[in-house]
Amino acid sequence: MKEIVAKIIETALKKEKINLSQDKILELIEVPREATLGDFAFPCFVLASQLKSSPNKIAIKLRETIGKTPKEFEDIQSVGPYLNFFVDRKTLAVKTVQEVIKLKEKYGSSNEGKGKVITIDMSSPNIAKPFGIGHLRSTIIGNSIGEISKKLGYRVIKINYLGDWGTQFGKMIVGWKKLGNETELKKDPIKFMLKLYVEGNKEEYEQEARDWFKKLENGDKEATALWKKFKELSLKEFDELYKILGINFDEISGESLYNDKMDKTIKELEDKKLLKESDGALVVDLEKYGLGVSLIKKSDGATLYATRDITAAIDRFKRYKFSKMIYEVGQEQKLHFQQFFKILELMGYDWAKDCMHVYHGLYLDKDGKKFATRKGKTVFMEDILNETMDLAKKRIEDKNPKLKNKKEAAKKIAIGAIFYGDLKNFRANDMVFDLDRFLEFEGNTGPYLLYSYARAKSILRKVKARKTNILFEDLEEKEIELVKKISEFSSIIEKAYEQMNPSIIANYSYQLAQIFNEFYHECPVMGSDKETFRLMLVEAFSQVLKNSLALLGIETLEEM
Ligand code: ARG
Repeated sequence: MKEIVAKIIETALKKEKINLSQDKILELIEVPREATLGDFAFPCFVLASQLKSSPNKIAIKLRETIGKTPKEFEDIQSVGPYLNFFVDRKTLAVKTVQEVIKLKEKYGSSNEGKGKVITIDMSSPNIAKPFGIGHLRSTIIGNSIGEISKKLGYRVIKINYLGDWGTQFGKMIVGWKKLGNETELKKDPIKFMLKLYVEGNKEEYEQEARDWFKKLENGDKEATALWKKFKELSLKEFDELYKILGINFDEISGESLYNDKMDKTIKELEDKKLLKESDGALVVDLEKYGLGVSLIKKSDGATLYATRDITAAIDRFKRYKFSKMIYEVGQEQKLHFQQFFKILELMGYDWAKDCMHVYHGLYLDKDGKKFATRKGKTVFMEDILNETMDLAKKRIEDKNPKLKNKKEAAKKIAIGAIFYGDLKNFRANDMVFDLDRFLEFEGNTGPYLLYSYARAKSILRKVKARKTNILFEDLEEKEIELVKKISEFSSIIEKAYEQMNPSIIANYSYQLAQIFNEFYHECPVMGSDKETFRLMLVEAFSQVLKNSLALLGIETLEEM
């Protein structure tokens, strides 16, 4: 429908001797917030300078130029600086469902990002440590932002930038020197490595740990071999997690990759007169910008997280020429990102302005405390996932004990519950991580959405042969609502992208499912004289919900 509107505007503009491309017009067309303002609106501001007239007058003029209202519309009006289009309900309904059914998973896609690259630094756990709950947030949100960007035509590079370097490895090695035990390490690597870290972190070993890290930085054989072993074991565990979560990366790198490229960065900072000595260490003074000082090189020569991030950013720009570089990392690192983005800017990289810290808040437990430990123990991701899948299995036993493939279904429901439970909240806010709530089948939850999808699919399965005539006179209120919601999908994606906010997609999915369930309650599908149209509507709904959930990283189930 939007295309038809764009065509009308293009033709009218040509008559005014203005050439504006279809794509540009499509980009400018808005969906008014209020129904009284119609279905589409074209803002005339951009034409003011060319036509040397006020936007309001241009709107009136264009309305005249269009002439007789085309049959697809009930009305076209100039309202202030806008040209508002009121689509004929029946045309809107038929065109919308036909378009969805034709485009399938491509419905909602656009080309606006064509030829542009976006990198997303996401997940990025620290090796030799348990995969933290904060890394889960980064994984879920980063993935969704990636899918949303892809839908708009961007080439997306999801980067898992592992925390695989730093003084903590000195501590790990000391821990190993004290407690090392191959069998125990193999038995439960992450838990044993955590033990090593705790041991090596003891104050009495501080100097020893520092020395070991120094050795590691200098390529010492023994240190390197141990570090490699820790890394491999961690990666194996992380891979299993990612497989369950259904997450893939386009690049798996990490801080260690930049170890031997740090001298170059430091030299560059020096040449650009940005470094300052402070108690034997090298820093960049950012006090002028209210950003404190950023430590670049310690007095013992060791480099830091920030040094590696600067180096990695420069390398990423070389390789990807990104139009945007996103870091999905917790808000507690805000200052770190502000500092190193500023340093990149001071180094003269104009792409520094395209770097974005897209941050998230904390998971809280039901008492509103930081969700990190349970009864004083670290919460392991693996345990959380298993617990969620068990809960999901119980719910299935209650609801539909005859369901085939229960295990696979439980997995998808569990993942859907967690992903949705997170993404329905604005990412920057703290949120309560409450698995019981996430897994409820009613209300604003992942399972409710999956269930709505499965319900639509079961209706469609009952049809043997579908008639092709789409005959009907009037549309019911609920049909109109559902069609309108479906047709909002692309503008919702754009909004979610602009605000880097997947909760816009999540809330949309929920509203869509709610309207569908109301429609289904009020409008009989099978056997009604509008059966053909209503079946198309059910099909279009299920497709759009599927597409919408895919943007959240959630896979649908045909049966539930
Ligand atoms: N490994 C870090 C942590 O767990 C997150 C890394 C985020 N990415 C980055 N380029 N700094 O805190």
